[in-house]
Amino acid sequence: MSFRPESSSAKDMRDRLIIGLDVPSVEEARALVDRIGDAGTFYKIGYQLAYAGGFELARELIDQGKKVFLDLKLHDIGNTVEAGVRSVARLGATLLTVHAYPQTMRAAVAGKAGSSLKILAVTVLTSYDDSDLVEAGYAPVPAAELVARRAAQARDIGVDGIVCAAPEAERVRAILGSDRLIVTPGIRPAGAEAGDQKRVVTPADAIRAGATHLVVARPIVKAADPRAAAEAILAEITQAA
Ligand code: C5P
Repeated sequence: MSFRPESSSAKDMRDRLIIGLDVPSVEEARALVDRIGDAGTFYKIGYQLAYAGGFELARELIDQGKKVFLDLKLHDIGNTVEAGVRSVARLGATLLTVHAYPQTMRAAVAGKAGSSLKILAVTVLTSYDDSDLVEAGYAPVPAAELVARRAAQARDIGVDGIVCAAPEAERVRAILGSDRLIVTPGIRPAGAEAGDQKRVVTPADAIRAGATHLVVARPIVKAADPRAAAEAILAEITQAA
């Protein structure tokens, strides 16, 4: 079931590509954003850049009219999560990740109240398999089952969407219904290097599986021509949508 935004203008299509600013410094990130130009409307800032001046950069990008996804994967006591989310909402970010624990998700939903911030839940980190969950103290449960259970909890709590690997998108879409966001990393245009991503999917396949947004970093960040790489992925998204 592929997702169709109510209006699918060219601008909305552009917003479906989230470019991961996986670079070590704000200076490098600024240079990259400049090179990508209007092919990039939505940027993800993760741990590496957030803790190296990335919040200031987020403000700059928002002031330039770009959208920002803060991939901070928050998880703490409810009071702390709620206050943190309120600060992120004030910053003007569009998306923020939290871990899909019910207390944390409820606190995040409370913290974003009255703002346009959308909360994405991370169900089970894709680096975890069944044995990692047992090692972490969980009663034996297949990781795929835990993904499904947490996706249903996220839906019931009123979280705006889920981050999941593209191969899980179809199953997660069936749980969430048609109106929530599904954001998928691990995307590789045909012929690109997989890097350390084990299960990669093309942009078109991820869109067809129900993803609303794709997160792409290395295929754009490391490209000789990042703008052309972003444009090629956008063309693939537009064709599949
Ligand atoms: O370079 P690449 O396109 O693989 O980067 C994907 C981005 O998505 C990175 O910022 C990475 O941290 C993030 N991510 C991921 N896999 C997940 C969750 C997030 O690759 N399961």
